[in-house]
Amino acid sequence: MANDSNKFQAIISHCKEYGFIFPSSEIYDGLQAVYDYGQMGSELKKNIKDYWWKSMTQLHDNIVGIDAAIFMHPTTWKASGHVENFNDPMIDNKDSNKRYRVDHLIEGFAEELRAKGEKESNEADNLLGQMESLLAKDDFAGLKSLIETNNIKCAVSDTCNWTDIRQFNLMFSTEFGSTVSSDDEDNKVYLRPETAQGIFVNFLNVQKTGRMKIPFGIAQIGKAFRNEIVARQFIFRMREFEQMEMQFFIRPGTQKEWYEKWKTTRLEWHKSLGMPAEKYRYHDHVKLAHYADAACDIEFEFPIGFKELEGIHSRTDFDLKQHQEFSKKKQQYFDNDIDPTTGKAYGNYIPYVIETSIGLDRMFLAVMSHAYEEQDLSTAEKKDSRVVLKFPAKLSPIKLAVLPLTKKDGLPEIAEQIMADCKADFRCFYEEKDSIGKRYRRMDALGTPFCVTVDHQTKEDNTVTIRHRDSMDQERVSIEKLKNIVLNAIA
Ligand code: GAP
Repeated sequence: MANDSNKFQAIISHCKEYGFIFPSSEIYDGLQAVYDYGQMGSELKKNIKDYWWKSMTQLHDNIVGIDAAIFMHPTTWKASGHVENFNDPMIDNKDSNKRYRVDHLIEGFAEELRAKGEKESNEADNLLGQMESLLAKDDFAGLKSLIETNNIKCAVSDTCNWTDIRQFNLMFSTEFGSTVSSDDEDNKVYLRPETAQGIFVNFLNVQKTGRMKIPFGIAQIGKAFRNEIVARQFIFRMREFEQMEMQFFIRPGTQKEWYEKWKTTRLEWHKSLGMPAEKYRYHDHVKLAHYADAACDIEFEFPIGFKELEGIHSRTDFDLKQHQEFSKKKQQYFDNDIDPTTGKAYGNYIPYVIETSIGLDRMFLAVMSHAYEEQDLSTAEKKDSRVVLKFPAKLSPIKLAVLPLTKKDGLPEIAEQIMADCKADFRCFYEEKDSIGKRYRRMDALGTPFCVTVDHQTKEDNTVTIRHRDSMDQERVSIEKLKNIVLNAIA
């Protein structure tokens, strides 16, 4: 098995070679931190989306979904605080002119320390602790001095010749209309940096038309855009990405309890996909975003280390209150439940919100990096190996490959009949070229959980060989049982 950094490179190559992910506009040498999902990748991504959407909107009676536009009225972003606060502290190296996000620069250095040994690992922890407390105070002079005293260098120039730290807004903007100049503030619109605001501005529309009672949630999947300065690490940090967010509207004062509940619920969701518990950990935020009174990340152990996969945020009533103030439209809910302490209805209030926010592309990377395995299958007689993607069956792009042993003797016709019987229920793939062994390997590399081979015995007793991807075990089953075997595995 390749080591972790090699494994990451191997995954990137595998994604390209097998039609999962391509660099965007590759024929023009690509566009930094923008990627396209290919024929296999778009299936895997859709399956992840469906799994999340179903768990949120179908399995919870009190959560509904929406699909809001990417463009929103520009005042939205003033109200939400993004125009003023959606900044990252940046530092430039004067020799290379390369710009870094301060936390990424320090974290990268801490990772290098950690790789050296136990003593250095403790130093790394100490360094990150200092960084977090300086970030929490927006102490940029302190952060710069932390970088200098630790002699943290630019990877390009190898020098420690740094500018002061400055804030950099991450939103992309463009203009509406045809005759405006780019500095016309009135026509400036932003590409949304989070999907959440589309939910907040529709809070009352959904609550009223859906006759929703608090507590209830609104879920959404959609694109978000951020002008990330240090956009690297493949699809981990992109400029155009997708989020799966849910805002859960609650009674003020109940936020602690709901925050804990959603922390647990979301971790359970991840584990329900069969990924081992030790691959996940919580990371509580010390520096809170401008809208939050508590926040944590669910981190996943990617080949590049433990990193944020999902955020759970207690957003208070910040967003709805801001939208009420900026729009001059009341964002209140009338709660006619009885408050046991007063014996009267709770009445009008602006709800508090717990948010769960997961990056779809990061989830894709988590699933892919856990699934990817290079296996040595050599025996005394012969060298052999395979790359297998051990996806949870329900997420696999293809569920069943149907492979006639030969192209003649009526075997393709039987295989085509199996395809016709199954393809309305799940994604099947037909292939008759090359040896069965080669075809199995190709399906392993795409993460197909089941292959069936139609052979001459099939003509006699209506049975096929079903081969299981992970164990490579093969068994003989009657054709009529096939569909249920697959359906049970992907349920
Ligand atoms: N509405 C809250 C929000 O947007 P966030 O922590 O900034 O919070 C939520 O983002 C999730 O979106 C992250 O946990 C991550 O999975 C994903 N995400 C954020 N920036 C990303 C980027 N540049 N590329 C890919 N995914 C990103």
